[in-house]
Amino acid sequence: MKKRIIVTGGTGYIGSHTAVELIQEGYEVILLDNLYNSEAEVAGRIGQITGTTPVLEVIDLCDASKLDATLKKHSGADAIIHFAAYKAVGESVNKPLEYYRNNLVSLMNLLDSMRSFSIPHMVFSSSCTVYGQPAILPVTEDAPVQPAVSPYGNTKQIGEEIIRDAVAAYEQINAISLRYFNPIGAHASALIGELPRGVPENLVPFITQTAYGLRDELKVFGVDYDTPDGSCIRDYLHVVDLAKAHVIAVERLISGKNKNPYEVFNLGTGKGVSVLEAISAFERATGVSLRYSITGRRPGDIEKIWADPSLANRELGWKTLSTLEECMRTAWAWENEIRKKK
Ligand code: UD1
Repeated sequence: MKKRIIVTGGTGYIGSHTAVELIQEGYEVILLDNLYNSEAEVAGRIGQITGTTPVLEVIDLCDASKLDATLKKHSGADAIIHFAAYKAVGESVNKPLEYYRNNLVSLMNLLDSMRSFSIPHMVFSSSCTVYGQPAILPVTEDAPVQPAVSPYGNTKQIGEEIIRDAVAAYEQINAISLRYFNPIGAHASALIGELPRGVPENLVPFITQTAYGLRDELKVFGVDYDTPDGSCIRDYLHVVDLAKAHVIAVERLISGKNKNPYEVFNLGTGKGVSVLEAISAFERATGVSLRYSITGRRPGDIEKIWADPSLANRELGWKTLSTLEECMRTAWAWENEIRKKK
């Protein structure tokens, strides 16, 4: 029998790419999403890529009784991959209670419901934001978690703590938190990708929208950092590489290969890339030149961070395969695809 995986936030950016990889690896996938930041049509697009359109349950995870009813229906499921969350850093500063309520109530409801309906495993979508500015680079999973600079970041830290404590208390639940660095790019089919609402906060959607002519220019937030070219450094990884790590994490839990009931892994390339290098990579990969100017620092930005992914390399047998140019090419193809639809 096919293993059944519930993917919350399954029509979102990382959720949809993960659903594709799961289906291609032979899993049955059920998507849960409230469509707050994504479209139902994505389920059909997953079907176009894989030949199997997953079931989509439109549900708000904060509604505990509806969630119970949904998980009861799918009570034989083998695991949950939990992506559903609000994720705009800037917005979270202005709407902290919405962020805490949405991201944490949904997580607690899920853990409760998993216990009620005997779903034993969770993979949680966490972030390198938990490290703040690490003292030592590349950053390993043992680096101390630092006070969050935004309510969004804090929901990831608290989310990890809730899961750690729940796993310790309830023997029937095992979990893996995956700390993503900066996911970018889109599926090679250009059928799914990131759909930012309004003006994008993140670098790559801003680059592709500027290149397309939707924005006048990209503003580079500061070139006075203590980095080789003065701009901030991040670890950008392709969303399909990231999606594949979730399949491996789920397999690890289902087959009982996890070494502890709760595990944490960094997911990144291990290579730091500056904002100016990212712009050059985009121009090289697409042949499109980008209008940009230098402006002041963005409050709350970390100067430099990149992953030490060796634990994931070793334990999960996972590493990133796509180059930065492939990331940029697929992001650009997706931007062009979105505009065709509109
Ligand atoms: C932020 C969050 C991270 C979250 C991620 C995805 C923090 C500290 N980081 O990452 O947790 O997972 O968003 O939502 O909370 N940049 C420009 N011009 C722009 C946009 C960005 O120069 O118009 C620069 C930024 O200064 C940064 C880099 O590009 O150096 C990447 O920015 P962004 O894509 O927003 O990601 P992070 O801030 O790293």
